[in-house]
Amino acid sequence: MSNYHIKHLEEYYQVYRKSVRNPEGFWEEIAEEHFLWRKKWDNVLSWDFKKPEVKWFEGAQLNITENCIDRHLATRGDKTAILFEPNDPKEGSEHITYKQLHHRVNKFANVLKEQGVKKGDRVCIYVPMIPELAISLLACARIGAIHSVVFAGFSSKALATRINDSDCKMVITSDGSYRGSKTIDLKGIVDEALESCEGVEKVLVAKRINSDINMKEGRDLWLQPLLDAASDQCKAEVMNAEDPLFILYTSGSTGKPKGMVHTTGGYMVYTAYTFKNAFQYRENDVYWCTADIGWITGHSYIVYGPLANGATTVLFEGVPSYPDFGRFWDIVDKHKVNQFYTAPTAIRALAKQGVEIVEKYDLSSLKVLGSVGEPINEEAWHWYNDNIGKNNSPLIDSWWQTETGGIMITPIPYVTPTKPTYATLPFIGVQPCLMDENGKELKGNQVDGRLCIKFPWPSIARTIWGDHQRYKDTYFSTYENMYFTGDGALRDEVGYYRITGRVDDVIIVSGHNLGTAPIEDAINEHPAIAESAIVGFPHEVKGSALYGYITLKDAGESRKHDNLRKEINQLISDRIGPISKLEKIQFTNGLPKTRSGKIMRRILRKIAEKDTSNLGDTSTLLNPECVQEIIDNAL
Ligand code: PRX
Repeated sequence: MSNYHIKHLEEYYQVYRKSVRNPEGFWEEIAEEHFLWRKKWDNVLSWDFKKPEVKWFEGAQLNITENCIDRHLATRGDKTAILFEPNDPKEGSEHITYKQLHHRVNKFANVLKEQGVKKGDRVCIYVPMIPELAISLLACARIGAIHSVVFAGFSSKALATRINDSDCKMVITSDGSYRGSKTIDLKGIVDEALESCEGVEKVLVAKRINSDINMKEGRDLWLQPLLDAASDQCKAEVMNAEDPLFILYTSGSTGKPKGMVHTTGGYMVYTAYTFKNAFQYRENDVYWCTADIGWITGHSYIVYGPLANGATTVLFEGVPSYPDFGRFWDIVDKHKVNQFYTAPTAIRALAKQGVEIVEKYDLSSLKVLGSVGEPINEEAWHWYNDNIGKNNSPLIDSWWQTETGGIMITPIPYVTPTKPTYATLPFIGVQPCLMDENGKELKGNQVDGRLCIKFPWPSIARTIWGDHQRYKDTYFSTYENMYFTGDGALRDEVGYYRITGRVDDVIIVSGHNLGTAPIEDAINEHPAIAESAIVGFPHEVKGSALYGYITLKDAGESRKHDNLRKEINQLISDRIGPISKLEKIQFTNGLPKTRSGKIMRRILRKIAEKDTSNLGDTSTLLNPECVQEIIDNAL
């Protein structure tokens, strides 16, 4: 009997137990009954967290685009697959049916082939939220090329690092992008990046803003004429279940970004199954996730998960504030959106605008609300639940990560009773546990510890591109035989989980993961700066914001501090992107250090949080005198 769609709490517990007692049998049944395989697997699962190595559906063959597109053609050919809502509402939305998507993906796939892309090649996608973005992912998957999407808000330096790390031979981009009332010169950013990317042979350019851009002979090609000339039929490449589907970069607490590698079969099964249940998607529902496809949320829950279920998925180009702060609600009203998935930072920004603007729109189509990306605070939870959901649409606070590929802890709407700020129960097949700092598992309820996962789920990232050792060190070395998430969590009296935040040096700003080390490296490039330390502090809208403590080489630096602040943020924008800019910059004469020379971030964090009542023992510091000075000058 199929457990594909869970409808009540008892069923959840029953299916959950089954998925944990016999994971292989459970996932085999789901995979067998709900997907299209060219060849079935020889083995459902083999794993060893010590190596670490995880393989799902080994020996199976498939193409994910046949599951996301072709198999729907007979029954859903004229159904809208992608509903594109442009930045400017006056431009009008575009409905792309499954049939049209099939043609467009095939054409694009043929263009990729003609331009020399082969199975296994890496293709970097740096495209704004327009249909070509989703289509380019699918086109790569169609021919077995590995896509590496880079969020089109990253700077040229950040883009170049990612292109080079995975040795991409092609970049897909657009002439520019719209963002509210602004336009961004994306092609210019690509050109700058490619000055240091020797491996890139071709750049395909989609036309979006009709700007006058430079096209480098022999390298750059306009996409549209190539698409026009290409055939709309393209045989799907037969892939092994464990062949890489994509690479997606995420920030670590140190070093360069980590190219998380996701493979084909397990990722497809898990994202499709979670999508169906976590959003209780039913045929003819209109589903909207406001994330950008540049992040994992967009990969799994705008593109692959929804399309694998034959859903209608909204792709929104714009921002919540343009033309005004009613835009989200206008879109919900206009397209009669049933499931709406967004981030706490957007909720907080919209809540600030008051409810009057919400009340102008009819939101009665909504059935499910979702939140993802960072802890949702109590106030935002209630505002969202009461004013958008009208206390009537369950709010699912879904916890997961780039590394997990799909949703891991979440209420199932209409199934799991929700509790403000709690992600509640593990999804089917997920075995979370809490560990203390000494590596002991915290059993029972009402405990607070570090969140780990004991058993592999189908969409776990398999490695870090080009650096398996780092994959092992980061996720599998802190606790024996466990995947360590980097998050802290507590479990309440009924076993509900609440995620409390990162326990490492990753700071989540407006839902974006930012590692402190790359930002500090960027700042330290400034000739006037001796050293710096970045910490997070609570921010009303962004959740957390960045606080930088900066020591100048010459304390009597003649330049004005305000100018320096601008230069520092410009440097960060250039090196990483504007999302990493510092909210506050405090100039210091020194940073508190341990005797081994390590910066004591714990103290700096407390000062940034304005909580200096209990700084702990500072006498063991190398330079305790600097602490008072920092407190006195805190911003
Ligand atoms: O700290 C957790 C936080 O976001 C991190 C993962 O970020 P990223 O890989 O960018 O993926 C974000 C979207 C899946 C996690 O380690 N996080 C994500 N969702 C939640 C969350 N924190 C609390 N509650 C959540 N629902």
